[in-house]
Amino acid sequence: MARDLPKYTVPSLTPEDGAKVAAILQERLHALNDLALTLKHIHWNVVGPHFIAVHEMIDPQVDAVRLMVDATAERIATLGSVPVGTPGALVAARTWDDYSIGRASTAEHLGALNEVYVGVITDHRAAAAQTEELDTVTNDLLVGHLGELELFHWFVRAHLESSGGALSTAAESTEKGAAQAAEAAASHTSS
Ligand SMILES: [Fe+2]
Repeated sequence: MARDLPKYTVPSLTPEDGAKVAAILQERLHALNDLALTLKHIHWNVVGPHFIAVHEMIDPQVDAVRLMVDATAERIATLGSVPVGTPGALVAARTWDDYSIGRASTAEHLGALNEVYVGVITDHRAAAAQTEELDTVTNDLLVGHLGELELFHWFVRAHLESSGGALSTAAESTEKGAAQAAEAAASHTSS
């Protein structure tokens, strides 16, 4: 996407590099806004055994991701560019599908949420790598996010993990496939 060059950026970066970093951050802004909304959707739609544990586990993740959203948008503005936070722009720009599960068990949502975190973290890692040479401050911001996102991902995965350390969703790469595998493992364990 062609972007207007900023009239200014942070000292010691060229406007071209400032614009490049801001474009990388804009994709992450969309992904984090999407993640915050998706986490709330799960918070509202999770049912069944362990409801309260999962329902309450999600809210601190929403709060943390919203702080990441704010810091990401403000870094884009600091770089002299325009952060875009509107829903239509998010939907038009994103390369992934809407979260695909409505009311469902804790196991199903956790299986699907594991896939959501895989996607967000993989792209965040790539963005961090792209900013390593360009802008160490942005790189530091993204690396800080990754520490938290990977911790939250582990909170989710710990629910899907056997005492032998294997994930019930290991063979799956889609939300629906992972949801089914997680549900099958949970009902097997409880019967
Ligand atoms: Fe709530």
